[in-house]
Amino acid sequence: MQLRRVAATVTAVLAISLIISTTQAHNITHMLAKFPEFSTFNHYLTTTHLAAEINNRQTITVLAVDNDAMSTLLSKHLPMGALKNVLSLHILLDYFGAKKLHQITNGTALAATMFQATGSASGSSGFVNITDLKGGKVGFGAEDNGGKVDATFVKELETIPYNISVIQITKIIPSPEAEAPAPGPSEQNITAVMSAHGCRIFAETLFASPAEQTYNGNLDGGLTVFCPADDAMKGFLPKYKNLTDVGKQALLEYHGVPVYQSMSMLKSNNGPMNTLATDGADKFDFIVQNDGKFVTLKTKIVTAKITDTLIDEQPLAIFVIDKVLQPRELFKAVEAPAPAPAPADDVAESPKGSKKKKHKAPAPAADAPVDSPADSPDEESADATADDSGSGGRSVGVFTVGVGVVVSFLMV
Ligand SMILES: *[C@@H]1O[C@H](CO)[C@@H](O)[C@H](O)[C@H]1NC(C)=O
Ligand SMILES: *[C@@H]1O[C@H](CO)[C@@H](O)[C@H](O)[C@H]1NC(C)=O
Ligand SMILES: *[C@@H]1O[C@H](CO)[C@@H](O)[C@H](O)[C@H]1NC(C)=O
Ligand SMILES: *[C@@H]1O[C@H](CO)[C@@H](O)[C@H](O)[C@H]1NC(C)=O
Ligand SMILES: *[C@@H]1O[C@H](CO)[C@@H](O)[C@H](O)[C@H]1NC(C)=O
Ligand SMILES: *[C@@H]1O[C@H](CO)[C@@H](O)[C@H](O)[C@H]1NC(C)=O
Repeated sequence: MQLRRVAATVTAVLAISLIISTTQAHNITHMLAKFPEFSTFNHYLTTTHLAAEINNRQTITVLAVDNDAMSTLLSKHLPMGALKNVLSLHILLDYFGAKKLHQITNGTALAATMFQATGSASGSSGFVNITDLKGGKVGFGAEDNGGKVDATFVKELETIPYNISVIQITKIIPSPEAEAPAPGPSEQNITAVMSAHGCRIFAETLFASPAEQTYNGNLDGGLTVFCPADDAMKGFLPKYKNLTDVGKQALLEYHGVPVYQSMSMLKSNNGPMNTLATDGADKFDFIVQNDGKFVTLKTKIVTAKITDTLIDEQPLAIFVIDKVLQPRELFKAVEAPAPAPAPADDVAESPKGSKKKKHKAPAPAADAPVDSPADSPDEESADATADDSGSGGRSVGVFTVGVGVVVSFLMV
């Protein structure tokens, strides 16, 4: 009786926390809609997709400017990429209400911005200098603008301490770097970007492989890269060196997706995702799953999570992951014997297991229960069984998601 009540409570709590974790933290579009004099700023937050990025952050400050200040910015006719950079400099990754702004320790501080977080800012150009000026004024200036802090605080529009603060400043913060036209995607040197941001080993491995051409060939049409961090890649190198040349190339191409997937798209698109190594339905794909806080990528062998964003700008996204993705096509046979508790079963099953990869097993249902514990030591067992007994249904799923991705890509 009591146990049942506890179970019910736990279920309810789980359900509620699931709802909370998948709901966005804020709705900046809605918050600004109350102020018609900020409609242009609001409009461009939406068209640059910055609104979604703001909504996904727990702690954030938006420095809004009115329609007059926006028309000054728009008269410069910046390309969309540069406009996005300029606006992203107005999104501070910390909470600053009026009180905190006027009481800064030592009278000056540097705040990291969304411009810095997207990786397109070099050096300290992604930081905003906030300085308490004479007469109670608070000035804001880009770090790369010669020490000028000439945009000043006007008023709070709406704040939810200490989660989101939306405040008005007098004008757009001038920044030569943010206003510079963003390099075109095909001018991006992705191995250089990864090398400079914690994925040096993966970048060098890619650079030495024909897979690099596959990556570069997809730069213009849309590309998402999941680069394993150096620690993960270092530990994996012995296994990598063991692969055939074809296997090495497939492993590297498995870390690229031939469409642009922003962080917010990944957070809302759960399901199978094809990769640059995919050749036919159900091959070399992995599962994207949003666990509330992190986006995870699951193969039959590992679950990796996204730990950092290096670039997230249409049509290119580069994310850092904490593990090397191991496709079942390359590692199932190697991984299976290790955790197997019953050696006899395992020996008997392994030839069948490799045959089954072709999805031509005559009796998959009878096969599945025996085989699944061996190749799925932990969370994968349910998944593995479903896959083995219904691969037809799953390829339809892959196809549907693929179409969805293409459609949303065309709509951006
Ligand atoms: C945010 O608010 C706007 C305007 O009120 C609304 O159109 C939009 O659907 C909301 N977005 C979300 C994610 O709730
Ligand atoms: C404030 O200035 C003092 C003396 O220059 C320095 O030691 C301290 O670290 C500064 N505090 C902050 C928060 O910058
Ligand atoms: C911000 O800019 C002012 C004026 O150029 C300068 O004096 C101050 O040191 C800067 N603050 C920081 C934290 O760099
Ligand atoms: C601020 O965010 C925290 C953590 O997400 C949440 O628990 C809290 O309820 C929020 N505060 C308000 C006033 O919405
Ligand atoms: C890209 O950067 C690497 C260094 O990481 C360099 O060796 C290579 O020549 C660069 N490629 C191009 C096309 O500039
Ligand atoms: C490399 O392959 C050999 C032969 O298949 C195997 O015995 C060895 O354990 C593998 N090494 C690694 C690090 O996977």
